[in-house]
Amino acid sequence: MTASGTFITFEGIDGSGKSTQARRLADTLRAEGHDVVLTREPGGSAGAEEIRKLVLEGDPDRWSAETEILLFTAARRDHLERTILPALTKGQVVICDRFADSTRMYQGLSRGDLRTVVDQLHSLMIGREPDLTILIDMDPDTGLNRALARQGSEERFEDFGPELQRQMRAGFLALADEYSDRFQIVDGARDMDSIAADVHAITLKALALKALA
Ligand code: ADP
Ligand code: TYD
Repeated sequence: MTASGTFITFEGIDGSGKSTQARRLADTLRAEGHDVVLTREPGGSAGAEEIRKLVLEGDPDRWSAETEILLFTAARRDHLERTILPALTKGQVVICDRFADSTRMYQGLSRGDLRTVVDQLHSLMIGREPDLTILIDMDPDTGLNRALARQGSEERFEDFGPELQRQMRAGFLALADEYSDRFQIVDGARDMDSIAADVHAITLKALALKALA
């Protein structure tokens, strides 16, 4: 099976506007006639949504860092098998709110240096990177305030506080440098329309490149 669709992911710290921009991009592309699947992680398939509850609700110390890597990767494997790869095979545009780069950051950095373990498990069980990753970069204090203003029971990582968010921002920027072929950085500290316009322009360029490939 060859995957002919385009796989786009959004990354960034909590509250940076990923979900908002992923939704807007999906709406805009659909209005332009593209066949779009909008999905998210952890989740995006029935099994992965069940795992989402296990990792994002309840006592924050419920899992060790290593167990968490296994759970996020198990969720991703199910999501990949049942949602992402079938859509790409049909030639659809898959827009995913977070993917493996989030595991590289959150599980790879937040409780010791586990990045190597994350990468090893990724190559063993996932082995797929996005065609385009849009990093919404912004000041962590603003992101955290936006994230905490939302009501909900999924406060797992937001609860870790501003220091972790600062570490995550720096980590995401370093990751963008490491995978510079697929990352595009967008300034998230602006109004939603300006960000959406940049995201749309970047995506059209990537779709055009993919069509030439
Ligand atoms: P994420 O998915 O990155 O956590 P969200 O898209 O859920 O971020 O946005 C977090 C909160 O901030 C939401 O309440 C959303 O409406 C708001 N928000 C998103 N983008 C902007 C923006 N550019 N300016 C102001 N508020 C925003
Ligand atoms: P998400 O719903 O995208 O949160 P937000 O909208 O606040 O950005 O993701 C929920 C949390 O899960 C978020 O704090 C980041 C965390 N997460 C990981 O720790 N590892 C992962 O692999 C993924 C995909 C998410």
